[in-house]
Amino acid sequence: MKKTFMISLVVAALVCAFALPNLSAANEAPADIELKAPFKMRKAPVQFPHAAHEKLVPECTTCHHEWDGKSEVKSCAAEGCHTEQRAKPGETLSFKKAYHDLCIKCHRQERKGPKGCNDCHPREKK
Ligand code: HEC
Ligand code: HEC
Ligand code: HEC
Repeated sequence: MKKTFMISLVVAALVCAFALPNLSAANEAPADIELKAPFKMRKAPVQFPHAAHEKLVPECTTCHHEWDGKSEVKSCAAEGCHTEQRAKPGETLSFKKAYHDLCIKCHRQERKGPKGCNDCHPREKK
């Protein structure tokens, strides 16, 4: 009886050891992400080098500002987030303003990274 208990403890520990890395793997982003709006877009979607920014920006929460560091990272255009094409002052930022405030502001501050419309939005709409 005691031995079976010990074995189940060891098994449980092993399961945990393998389950933990998988938990964090669930929060791994693709290296490059094509950013698409939940409405008909006027511009071509932006290609965002995520892996590069994980190295450039120390904190995930600079961008994922609602993330608790544990649960699944939500899309910026998840329900209740930046889904709208337009928003009034005081409302949750529109899709476009949320991205522009984040991306362009940092590139200006750092004096690095693209700042012109066509540097981020490819000229030709696909
Ligand atoms: C640093 C990169 C960056 C720059 C510079 C930039 N944008 Fe954006 N813009 C984005 C991102 C990211 C989004 C949201 C994701 C997407 O639309 O692909 C976005 C969204 C938009 C949208 C809403 C989505 C759509 O296609 O309807 C419009 C319109 C837009 N940008 C126009 C502009 C214009 C005009 C300029 C220049 C004045 C500009 N952007 C400069 C990154 C940028
Ligand atoms: C410079 C901004 C920025 C930084 C820093 C950043 N991310 Fe992201 N991440 C994004 C954007 C933008 C997306 C695309 C969101 C979308 O599709 O709506 C994204 C997407 C993701 C996704 C996929 C979510 C989905 O939509 O399914 C995961 C997971 C993720 N990031 C994890 C991380 C982790 C973990 C870190 C820190 C190590 C991090 N990110 C750092 C901007 C950033
Ligand atoms: C907190 C700072 C910060 C934020 C936020 C940020 N970036 Fe950047 N980004 C940088 C820096 C710094 C560089 C310049 C890297 C270099 O030239 O070495 C850069 C470079 C880039 C490049 C050029 C990469 C290349 O290979 O030349 C693109 C495209 C880009 N950013 C898109 C975005 C988009 C889209 C967003 C918003 C989702 C964003 N960035 C948010 C700091 C930031």
